[in-house]
Amino acid sequence: MNARAGRGAPLRLRVNGQDREVAAPPHAPLLAVLRNDLGLNGPKYGCGLGECGACTVLVDGVAARACVIPAGGVEGREITTLEGLGGPAAPHPVQQAFVDAQAAQCGYCLNGMILATVALLARIPRPTDAEARAALSHNLCRCGTHVEILRAVQRAAELVARAEGRPE
Ligand code: FES
Ligand code: FES
Repeated sequence: MNARAGRGAPLRLRVNGQDREVAAPPHAPLLAVLRNDLGLNGPKYGCGLGECGACTVLVDGVAARACVIPAGGVEGREITTLEGLGGPAAPHPVQQAFVDAQAAQCGYCLNGMILATVALLARIPRPTDAEARAALSHNLCRCGTHVEILRAVQRAAELVARAEGRPE
């Protein structure tokens, strides 16, 4: 038995800028801990295999698949979920861009699309369409809103630049 699990020591996670303690085993998928223990339902369960991107979170600013990451493996790292970006009252510029571009039908993929876009723009503030396609190529949208999603990425680049006081 895992020594820590035997002691019942809580997992210590830093999520959306807050230190959280969770009574979950270290091997529990991060997605399950976020949704079931912390009530953060932004990340979605899609394939459970690391293939669709619905469960995407940021770990130290990098997009990661929470369904295949053991929660114990990200103790001490900065985890950001969709809830950590903003909400209806004060949306993050990337969230606003997806609204502006009407880049949703069912919306199930949007958690992953938005967080992957946040990570992309942190690396490449003005991505080309090809760079945007490459960054989102492993995030699946079953509704086929890819054209609108790519438009949202370009809109997001403008809005993030505006928010940061850079030329759009
Ligand atoms: S649910 Fe995690 S990649 Fe599909
Ligand atoms: S909008 Fe439905 S899966 Fe993308």
